[in-house]
Amino acid sequence: MASAMPLALLLLCLLVTQTNGSRRVLLRSTDDDSGASWSLKACTSISSGHSNGNKLPVVHRLSPCSPLIGGVRKHGKAGLNEILHRDGLRMRYLNEVQAAAAADTAPAPSGTPASGLSVPATQNVISGLPGVFSYTVLAGYGTPAQQLPLYFDVTGMSNLRCKPCFSGVEPCDQAFDPSRSSSFRTVPCGSPDCTQASCSSGSSCTFTFYNSTFVFGNGTVVTDTLTLSPSATFEDFTVGCMQLDNLFSDGAAAGNIDLSRSRHSLATRVLLSSPPGSAAFSYCLPANKDTQGFLNIAPALSDYSGHGGVKHVPLVTNPRGPNFYFIDLVAIAINGKDLPFPPATFRGNGTMIDTQAEFTYLNPLIYTALRDEFRTAMAKYQPAPAFSDLDTCYNFTGINYIELPDMTFRFGNGETMELDDRQFMYFFREHLDDAFPFGCMAFAASPDPNFAWNLLGSQVQRTKEIVYDVRGGKVAFVPSRCGLR
Ligand SMILES: *[C@@H]1O[C@H](CO)[C@@H](O)[C@H](O)[C@H]1NC(C)=O
Ligand SMILES: *[C@@H]1O[C@H](CO)[C@@H](O)[C@H](O)[C@H]1NC(C)=O
Ligand SMILES: *[C@@H]1O[C@H](CO)[C@@H](O)[C@H](O)[C@H]1NC(C)=O
Ligand SMILES: *[C@@H]1O[C@H](CO)[C@@H](O)[C@H](O)[C@H]1NC(C)=O
Repeated sequence: MASAMPLALLLLCLLVTQTNGSRRVLLRSTDDDSGASWSLKACTSISSGHSNGNKLPVVHRLSPCSPLIGGVRKHGKAGLNEILHRDGLRMRYLNEVQAAAAADTAPAPSGTPASGLSVPATQNVISGLPGVFSYTVLAGYGTPAQQLPLYFDVTGMSNLRCKPCFSGVEPCDQAFDPSRSSSFRTVPCGSPDCTQASCSSGSSCTFTFYNSTFVFGNGTVVTDTLTLSPSATFEDFTVGCMQLDNLFSDGAAAGNIDLSRSRHSLATRVLLSSPPGSAAFSYCLPANKDTQGFLNIAPALSDYSGHGGVKHVPLVTNPRGPNFYFIDLVAIAINGKDLPFPPATFRGNGTMIDTQAEFTYLNPLIYTALRDEFRTAMAKYQPAPAFSDLDTCYNFTGINYIELPDMTFRFGNGETMELDDRQFMYFFREHLDDAFPFGCMAFAASPDPNFAWNLLGSQVQRTKEIVYDVRGGKVAFVPSRCGLR
């Protein structure tokens, strides 16, 4: 890690972990994560696509290397309000998925989109549809490959903006141009890949994006060649080709690549084409907006054997979210002491691992117990007011050393994983001229008490490479591999 992230350490070293006896102590730096400068060279290496083997560089949508331009970016860091807002949209979407599965109406969010996709009340259709996206990779689609920045997610369907745009007049930037591809095909109505209720006959499988008052655009289910690297190409890869005007795109990506368990997903294609002994994919999420991570397609499992500190955790399925990845979390311990819950409270295959939400949202009963233990362990620090859903916050003004409790996850197979402080504390400053930032525990109770599962957001996944051995029914957490070099 140290050799992999010199830039990050230079720019962002908000905290340096030191050891003092058995406890970890954070040494505060007066520097902050203003991220004012970013090496253009690093961005160039990202824009040239894959860097090594099947490893694609991953950047946050607000990274200086992201195509997103304009005033959204502030000090290289999304505001806490914006993060919480997007987390709220994500939770709302997952709530709808759960409700649909419980009502057993729609065939869950799998396969192709329903005949119309309802769009949340946001201007940015891509960022709001149907989840909320955060991380982008650069991938090629078509022949010859057109390079496009794409989110990756577990939505159940890959989507791309396609030319021409809906209104047909504007240039339609960051969109795939079907007319320039020799391998482009539309999926006909009768195909099993077309599950559009509105499509009964015809040579193309169409759908519409709308909310209750407005039609955003049309889409067609199509196939073409997806090129992630010279050694990772997928012919006839199915996507929803969306005609959306620039106004409804967030500018950071031209669509999304689906890594879910859906039969159309890239993960499924990888499993069908890769030799035994390879995982479907792995990723390392960037530690912050100013560093890069990677998405690795079909990594060999042997690469991880013998690597110290790898934690293998059972992957479980959940009928209410058949496309999503769930892990078998059975306990959380603070300073070695389990929260007073029987494993059944955690079970029900109810802990989803998610890259769209930033923070971790727990069943309110579990969260309350965690918060109480955490507050007891942090009793010597000055509490700060809650920041929206983050209600365990501290004002560390004037304090140079912070002693944080140990937080450990335990899984159904007995494996334990101690979290790094950067995985469970979120530090921020309220005003730019504050000398030292505030810090909140990066966990919250699910805002909806009926929310059926725990959600492990991206912050708690940072600092680890997460390997999805879908065939083997396991997820591996691999420390210290989060660097491209
Ligand atoms: C539908 O989207 C349009 C365009 O963004 C917006 O003006 C309108 O308020 C939305 N309607 C609802 C009910 O969300
Ligand atoms: C969008 O789809 C609808 C229904 O298929 C169709 O009537 C309309 O012409 C399409 N609009 C564009 C701009 O393609
Ligand atoms: C939960 O996961 C276990 C292990 O994968 C599986 O045997 C069981 O059927 C799952 N339960 C539900 C309700 O999906
Ligand atoms: C944080 O603590 C400092 C020092 O005790 C105090 O001056 C400041 O007002 C506090 N800020 C908040 C928002 O509580």
